[in-house]
Amino acid sequence: QIFDSTEDGSLFVAREIASLIKEKQAKNLPCVLGLATGATPIRLYAHLVNLHKTEGLSFKNVITFNLDEYYPIERDAFQSYWSYMHRHLFDHVDIPKENIHLPNGELSKEEARKACETYEQLIENAGGIDLQILGIGSNGHIGFNEPGSSIYSKTRLVSLDNTTRINNAYEFQNISEVPRMAITMGISTILKAKKIILMAWGSKASIVAKSVEGQVTEQIPASILQQHNNCTFVLDHNAAAEL
Ligand code: GLP
Repeated sequence: QIFDSTEDGSLFVAREIASLIKEKQAKNLPCVLGLATGATPIRLYAHLVNLHKTEGLSFKNVITFNLDEYYPIERDAFQSYWSYMHRHLFDHVDIPKENIHLPNGELSKEEARKACETYEQLIENAGGIDLQILGIGSNGHIGFNEPGSSIYSKTRLVSLDNTTRINNAYEFQNISEVPRMAITMGISTILKAKKIILMAWGSKASIVAKSVEGQVTEQIPASILQQHNNCTFVLDHNAAAEL
């Protein structure tokens, strides 16, 4: 779906999420959301906060699992995805604290590996992800599943590509402070979501075209989404320019 602006696209996704939350509320069921970070979903979260404040959209039945987190990183660091999610969404809505899940960047490697298995289990125990929100890296990564990630991959510790570290350096003082690793849901974890919405704006036209119209290949992780039966790309005109 192609929108005139980032604002329109973000509002569309916010309304999709709101109607899913309400549909689940009506049935007394939890609504399990997979959430993304980065620059792309910032306006989406602003719209969700606005729907909470102006229309009384409640997040009491919402359970969230974030896609990824830097490793190592302290939870309270400004650049952690834990901080990002609280700053942009969780601190402004009525989601119960115990319903919020993000990979933990503070653990030892051994503990982190165990926590990855637990993360998969927690998603399963919650009934699976109803709606997964994704962004896309300029190299086609989804979450922190860099090119070459297996279609069978699960939540795990990964090394970041240099291009990703360069792209994300703006969040840090300088490139040397960008963590070299991350914890990310795997491709198979993402594909298990019942519905997926990938959002992309601006300069992502080339990788969006390769992902949507190119060959399905592990070298472009987002292209694997062609194999999902309920996946929508929400784009602005710039990101759709090469389709
Ligand atoms: C980041 C995140 C991804 C995100 C992608 C795009 O590094 N780990 O989850 O979707 O790269 O980021 P942005 O939205 O800032 O372009």
